[in-house]
Amino acid sequence: MLVKEIKELRSLIKSWKREGLSVGFVPTMGALHKGHESLIKKAVLENDKVVVSVFVNPTQFGPNEDYDSYPRDINKDLALCLNAGAALVFNPEPSEMYFDNKATTVSVSSLTSVLCGAKRPGHFDGVCLVVSKLLNIVTPDKAYFGEKDAQQVAVLKRMVRDLNIDVEIVACSIIREEDGLAKSSRNTYLSKDERQAALILSKSLERAKDSLKNGERNATKLKEVIKAELSKEPLAKIDYVEIVDSDSLENVETIEKNVLIPIAVYIGKTRLIDNFTFKIYTY
Ligand code: PAF
Repeated sequence: MLVKEIKELRSLIKSWKREGLSVGFVPTMGALHKGHESLIKKAVLENDKVVVSVFVNPTQFGPNEDYDSYPRDINKDLALCLNAGAALVFNPEPSEMYFDNKATTVSVSSLTSVLCGAKRPGHFDGVCLVVSKLLNIVTPDKAYFGEKDAQQVAVLKRMVRDLNIDVEIVACSIIREEDGLAKSSRNTYLSKDERQAALILSKSLERAKDSLKNGERNATKLKEVIKAELSKEPLAKIDYVEIVDSDSLENVETIEKNVLIPIAVYIGKTRLIDNFTFKIYTY
């Protein structure tokens, strides 16, 4: 079922809740792929009803970013959601989501001034605003997000904690193509040559994993390993390579706790991100 209005969505969700049913929520911007499908399937396993939102959120795009060209195909998205077991897809117009004279901002400080937040000013304010609105509208028990956007997961966890929003944020593993490229709606922008070149992201992270296995714990040296691999690909331009504490997202020098190793790389004009978390087990 496709729902476009908040009022209709709220009344359906209220009726489910009256029956005692649990609600899982997968917020998306559409152009759905296997990564989104895996979030929906996990939500279906863990909840009685699953709502997927498909909304290309204008407030999280910068003026020179790809809001207008972002891929949109609601019929294809709807079919994927229903096949994966979702009960409904919420696909509002921007005018349904935003008042012309909106005056409220939602901003999570510190965590958003680094990594993608530093490169895309205002991006996380837009994400936090839309996700807090969607959580207020859907009132889910659990909401599902992909770990490819690891910073987004950290920011949203902090936001729901700070605002006492009654939802569990469930972070789900990155889904990859067979050759290692992390699934992303933006992969559709890549030409054949760029698609091949994009493999350098996952390859560079594999090199870092090898170094970690060999005992390397110096963050600067590990970043050099990743950068050296990335620089082998002429179509790749590094945006950032970082090693940060998984919770605070603060830079680390020596790897002694769990760290997130995120990278952002331009392949031609397309900016791709990837990451992995290195866990230190203490027994
Ligand atoms: O990850 C995304 O697709 C978006 O940032 C989200 C969470 C749907 C908010 O628009």
